[in-house]
Amino acid sequence: MNGEFMRVLSAPEVEHFERHGWVLAEGLVPDTDIAAALPGLFQLYPTPEQFHAGGDAREAGYRARAEAPENAGDDPRFRPLQFVGLKEFPHPDQTLNALALHPAIIAAAEAVLHTRDVRLYQAETFAKYTGVTQYDQPFHADYTNHVMLPPRTDGRWRQAQMFLYLSDVTLPHGATRIVSREKTRDIPLMALSFPKARVAEERHREWEASATSAVGPRGSLLIYGADVVHRGTEMTLPGGGRFFFNLAYRTAGADWVGANPWPRKGMVDWTPLVESLSVRQLEALGFPPPGHDYWDAATLQGAADRYPRLDLSPWREALDPSRSGRL
Ligand SMILES: [Fe+2]
Repeated sequence: MNGEFMRVLSAPEVEHFERHGWVLAEGLVPDTDIAAALPGLFQLYPTPEQFHAGGDAREAGYRARAEAPENAGDDPRFRPLQFVGLKEFPHPDQTLNALALHPAIIAAAEAVLHTRDVRLYQAETFAKYTGVTQYDQPFHADYTNHVMLPPRTDGRWRQAQMFLYLSDVTLPHGATRIVSREKTRDIPLMALSFPKARVAEERHREWEASATSAVGPRGSLLIYGADVVHRGTEMTLPGGGRFFFNLAYRTAGADWVGANPWPRKGMVDWTPLVESLSVRQLEALGFPPPGHDYWDAATLQGAADRYPRLDLSPWREALDPSRSGRL
């Protein structure tokens, strides 16, 4: 945070999310925090300059299948190569990882989910480069690939998907086009869903005319629900690259919402991540808070064995009434 004042969602931004199903919060994460994470990002991906110069070993995978039938052509549709730049969190660099659990992101999740009890359920970095494939997609909602059941209209047990911009997004960077829920409310959710909303072409044209292009500087956060119609667009900027963090938060207890299960991540580099996080950030990954019934002397010791560099004093103090005065 570098001591900067933390930007929170304004009341009009939360109202926009309620009414339209999405909101773009410009500059939500301080630019200095994005800049600090870029060395870690570019350990994972070529910079746009490296990519377009060719010869970077990491570049080959993007180019390899461009001529395959599933990736060819110019019509708007989903192509495997559109997703070749997805990489699941956690990454080797903790500064990059920390963006997924940035205090401003957790606060934004609290604001749109209307609860403090929020969980990060998806985190993947994403890179796109001009020319890899045609990035245009048809309008669709991410309903069948995020939740097993429809969202409630009163907002309880809600989820929210997020794109945290790690680079500036302008129109030629292939900005997401997004449609107000007010324009789609009359259509059953199943008909709106991935991979293409099953409505008349005339309706697609109306959405295109009324959609917003989610352009913004790096540090901006696009937030939208699983019932919101949107589409990716073609990248036309010569030599262009676009980088973002695909994040999703849900209300605790909404077990019908999900994507990446964190307990499986113990098979990769999980321990340094846990040891770098605060109590609040660990709660957002599903750790029981200090004072939770799960904690006793044995589980506390087991946690210390597994994460030797994690400061467990908040949990320890909550367990010992003589030290916390809680009980
Ligand atoms: Fe989508």
